[in-house]
Amino acid sequence: MIIAIDGPAASGKGTIARQIAAAYGLHHLDTGLLYRAVAKALLDAGHSPDDPARAAEAATMLDPERFDENALKSQSVTDAASVVAAIPEVRQALINYQREFATKPPGAVLDGRDIGTVIAPGADVKIFVVASPEVRASRRTLEMRSRGEMVDEKEVLADLLRRDARDSRRTAAPLKAAPDAHLLDTTHLGIDAAFRAAVDIIEAVRAGRKRR
Ligand code: DC
Repeated sequence: MIIAIDGPAASGKGTIARQIAAAYGLHHLDTGLLYRAVAKALLDAGHSPDDPARAAEAATMLDPERFDENALKSQSVTDAASVVAAIPEVRQALINYQREFATKPPGAVLDGRDIGTVIAPGADVKIFVVASPEVRASRRTLEMRSRGEMVDEKEVLADLLRRDARDSRRTAAPLKAAPDAHLLDTTHLGIDAAFRAAVDIIEAVRAGRKRR
C-alpha cells in the first residue's frame, strides 16, 4: 500500500504521516528532508541556492541514509529548501529515489508537496492536509520555541505565506491537491483527532475498494 500525504508547511502532514506509517507497519519518507539536504549542501559549500547546475549536482550526490534531521531544520535551510525545490533539475534528480522508496515492500507513506501528483500518482490513498495560515504559524512558533529558538509569531506567519506562495506558484510540480486526493482540514483538530481522521479516510478508501 502506498499512501501519499501532501500539504503546506505546518499543516500537520508530517506528524500524520509518521503515525499512519507506524499504525499500518509501512515505511515513512519525509520528502521535504531531501530538498532541505540539497539546500544545506549548497549553503555549506558557500553556493547560492538558486544556482541550478550546482543544486542539481548536490541533488545527484545526496545520500539520504546519512541525514542529520536537526541540522536540516534551521531557518536558513528552510528558506533555501523552498528555493532549490523550484529548480526542475533538482526535482528530476530526486524522483527515482522517492519512487523506489514508495515501492519498497510492504509499502510506504510519503509526505511532501507533489507525492499524489508526480511521485506516486497511482498511490492507493491520497490525502491533502490543510489548516489555516494562523493555526499553522502558531504550531510552527511553538515547535521552534520548544527547540529554544526565539521567534515572533507574526514573522513566522509571514515566512509561511512566502513559502506557500513560492511552493504553489512554481511551474515544476507545484504544491496542489491531486484531483483524487481526500482533503483533511486540521485547523480545529489536535494531533489525535487528525490521526483518526486520516485513518477514517484510509479505511473508507479500502472498504470502497473491497465492495467494488
Ligand atoms: O515539508 P518541508 O517544509 O520540510 O519542505 C521543505 C521545502 O521543500 C518546502 O519549501 C517545499 C519543498 N518540498 C517540495 O517542493 N516537494 C516535496 N515533495 C517536499 C518538500
